Amino acid sequence: MKILEFGFSLRSGSFSRIVAEQCKESAPKGVVIEDYNIADIPPFNQDLEQDLPASVVRFKNAIRTSDALLVILPEYNYSVPGYLKNAIDFASRPYQDNVFAGKPVGVISESTGLLGGARAQYHLRQSFLYLGTKDMKKPEVFITFAGEKIKNGKIVDEATKEYISMYISALVEFTMNANK
Ligand SMILES: Cc1cc2nc3c(=O)[nH]c(=O)nc-3n(C[C@H](O)[C@H](O)[C@H](O)COP(=O)(O)O)c2cc1C
Repeated sequence: MKILEFGFSLRSGSFSRIVAEQCKESAPKGVVIEDYNIADIPPFNQDLEQDLPASVVRFKNAIRTSDALLVILPEYNYSVPGYLKNAIDFASRPYQDNVFAGKPVGVISESTGLLGGARAQYHLRQSFLYLGTKDMKKPEVFITFAGEKIKNGKIVDEATKEYISMYISALVEFTMNANK
């Protein structure tokens, strides 16, 4: 099974990126969790959707050839970070070639605040509703106060690590059932 993870922020030392690393470490035997860096996706322009930029074609192929997606995102201004929404918008086009349709999806949000990116996570899930993904609705993960749980490039909070591990197992099972 291959799970494609993306959505973490582009800054060095990104907490969401460290969460992505932890997810990879939590992958059970026989499951590969692979990072996808969406930094090379240009701003969406509908004029380009019949002849997509190479970076978008690559991203769409990576989605297509994965059994599930795992989106790991921070919250920006009470919503989904622009770079991530942009990449999803591009990969969803043209309309008749929406690679998200029917894809099993897990979502993990984090923020340095009290709500762990909940507003961003639910905005993202709203877009997935339109795109027709198969979302794993529960369990949910909101990593709150990320600055206290992540230090020197590692998650130092054991309960968070255990919860991530449980979440990955649940996503693997969900994916097996969803792709039957
Ligand atoms: C542009 C911007 C907007 C932000 N807006 C919010 C917000 O609305 N709610 C929140 O809880 N945190 C907000 N934050 C804090 C981020 O969620 C937090 O710094 C997070 O850890 C960033 O992810 P990263 O460490 O992977 O870069 C914001 C940060 C930035 C840079």
